[in-house]
Amino acid sequence: MIEKIIELKKERKAVILAHNYQLGEVQDVADFVGDSLGLSQQAAKTDAKVIVFCGVHFMAETAAMLSPDKIVLLPDPNAGCPMADMINAEQLREEKKKNPGSPVVCYVNSTAEVKAECDVCCTSSNSIKVVERLGDERPIIFIPDQYLGAYTASKTNKKLILWPGYCPTHMKIGVDDIINLKKEHPYAEVLVHPECRPEVIAQADHALSTDGIIKRVRQSLSREFIIGTELGIIHRLKIESPEKIFIPASKRAICPDMKAITLEKVLWALERMEYHVTVPPEIREKAVKAVNRMLEIV
Ligand code: 13P
Ligand code: SF4
Repeated sequence: MIEKIIELKKERKAVILAHNYQLGEVQDVADFVGDSLGLSQQAAKTDAKVIVFCGVHFMAETAAMLSPDKIVLLPDPNAGCPMADMINAEQLREEKKKNPGSPVVCYVNSTAEVKAECDVCCTSSNSIKVVERLGDERPIIFIPDQYLGAYTASKTNKKLILWPGYCPTHMKIGVDDIINLKKEHPYAEVLVHPECRPEVIAQADHALSTDGIIKRVRQSLSREFIIGTELGIIHRLKIESPEKIFIPASKRAICPDMKAITLEKVLWALERMEYHVTVPPEIREKAVKAVNRMLEIV
């Protein structure tokens, strides 16, 4: 299967991009593995004709917006992000009416239609930087993740209006999980994703994006790490830092949408050239501005 994927990839002039939460075997066939920001930067600069996006729908959509002349394939059309679906364009328009003049920052985990209603995008690796760039005149509408929003607000002097969205996978990490593991592993460094609840983040040494976690592990002198995010990240952590020990904060933190992509589906995507993700030009025109504004800031 891997040989076939590699062969077809050459034939189709395709590149495989995979998120850090993908299954290990999917990460292993990818040309680039990374976080949401890294993946969108790769999608913007690749000269491949086809991008096979091993991640969830909003990520493939972002790649399609940044590379409108390329074919972007999502190996499973049902791989979505429940958090991204917690707000739609109509709801955001209503929120904007309630807060006239407020700038809107959208977490990249949002649909293209929602991005089209926003001023600037952010990811978990740059939300603080993005929010700090905005003026102080009006409070900032931050959608859809209330927890990334609350974390960002706590690290800046800005007033953020939060939308009650959340990631169901990161909700599975409880504060007790961390407290108990810290007792068992008193020397372990605790690294969590900012999509975790504030009480979980309060127990951590650092709240970082997935690439941020990988980088921190590489640089840290600690030997043991409690990892508070989706379990797929442990695959890359073990490859990059084989001498270190990784303890998942919760074995339940598995994103079923990320795990919907399998090696078979990657092969079928290349064989059948499906499922093609596109963004209507009128939406793309507005939404890509918010994404490009973020890429300019970082
Ligand atoms: P990162 O940008 O940190 O990789 O996060 C993406 C995501 O979906 C987290 O749940
Ligand atoms: Fe969405 Fe959470 Fe899955 Fe990330 S881990 S894709 S935020 S549901």
